[in-house]
This record gives sequence, structure tokens and C-alpha cells, in this order.
Amino acid sequence: MSQILLVQSSSNLGSSVSRDLSEGFVRDYQAAHPGATVTRRDLVSNPVPHLGVDLLGAMFGKPEALDEAQVAALAISNTLIDEIAAASLIVMGVPMYNFSIPSALKAWIDHVVRAGRTFEYTANGPKGLVTGKKLVLFLASGGVYSDGPFKPYDFQQTYLRTIFGFIGITDVTIIRAEGLAFGGDKAAGAIAEARVQTTAITA
Ligand SMILES: Cc1cc2nc3c(=O)[nH]c(=O)nc-3n(C[C@H](O)[C@H](O)[C@H](O)COP(=O)(O)O)c2cc1C
Repeated sequence: MSQILLVQSSSNLGSSVSRDLSEGFVRDYQAAHPGATVTRRDLVSNPVPHLGVDLLGAMFGKPEALDEAQVAALAISNTLIDEIAAASLIVMGVPMYNFSIPSALKAWIDHVVRAGRTFEYTANGPKGLVTGKKLVLFLASGGVYSDGPFKPYDFQQTYLRTIFGFIGITDVTIIRAEGLAFGGDKAAGAIAEARVQTTAITA
């Protein structure tokens, strides 16, 4: 039975393309796979803190020497990592903000990329510990980055592939809705194309 973790990061709670596409995919996936369950982690409605003094201290301190605030900070990280561990399929809605990802999502990443939990250092270098997961990313952007003059400005897709690959998640499907700022037919066409791609991977 599939367990889905759906992570949202668009600050637009009203008419977000990345939220609509990712929610639509999960809905279709559950219809095609009865019994698949979903855990929702909304990083805007329910933000996780930035990596602060307490979490940093907890990550590098001796477990028996942590103070109350450090234990509490580490508990948030543990909960988020446990959600990833429990999922077989991770689905994320991600808007492009300033050529990269929303800071709300970066804060989550800073909690889940943790030595000893999601990666480890070996004699051959770092090794990801989160294996056997599928990741589907729904990326939305005003401009076009998959090709053309702005391709080198894409620190959204490139960063996400790199950081998830680092912790062992390498089975990644990316569905982009690009050029949304062009409006009209172009934006509608990009969303329609993303829906076609979504349907193709739902089964
Ligand atoms: C704060 C902010 C920064 C943005 N930065 C970029 C950007 O650097 N490049 C781009 O192509 N679009 C940018 N956009 C446009 C969004 O990527 C676009 O509106 C997208 O649809 C947002 O995703 P959503 O609809 O899921 O909220 C930005 C939008 C906002 C609100």
C-alpha cells in the first residue's frame, strides 16, 4: 500500500498552480490506487522554524547533554524525517521564488538533511540513507527555464535534484508549469501540458 507525503510551499493559498497540480495528482493517484494514504505537510499554513541556535546545537551535541530547547528543536526535525521515512511516494508543489525555492521549503530541507539520519559520511564520501522512494515535483514559474536564455538562472530544479539526490532520493519525476507570467494562452497551455504529463504518470 502506498503512503504519500504531500509537501506544499507556495505562499499563495488561493490560486497556486503548484498546489493545484500537486493536489490534483494526489487525488488522481488515490483514485487509481485505492488504499493509498496521504500525509499533508503545508510549510506555509504551518511553517517550520528556520535552522536556529537550538537545532544546530542539538545536531552537533551529545544526545545526553541536550537542554530542553534543543530536545524540542530536534523533535521537530525527527517528526519531519519520520514523515519522509514512512512515505513511499513524496509529492511536492514548489513555486520558483527569485530563481530558487521558497524559504519555507528551505527551512524544511534544513531539518531533514541530517547527518546520521538521512545521510552519513563514509570513507568514500557522503552517502544518502533515504532509499527506495519516488519523488514527484510540481514546479511553477513565471518565466521559462527548461530551455532558452534563462536556463542558467534555474536554481529551483537543479537545487532540488541535487539536495534530494544527496540524501538518496534519485527516482525523481519533474513536471513543470513554466511561462505562467506570459498569461493568456501561454499560461493556460503550460498548465494543460503539465496536466497531460501528470495523467501519464498517475497510473
Ligand atoms: C516572491 C516571488 C518571487 C518570484 N520569483 C520568480 C522568479 O525568480 N522567476 C520566475 O520565473 N517567476 C518568479 N515568480 C513567479 C512565480 O514563480 C509564479 O507566479 C508561480 O506561478 C508561483 O507558483 P504558485 O502559482 O504555485 O504560487 C515569483 C513570484 C513571487 C511571488
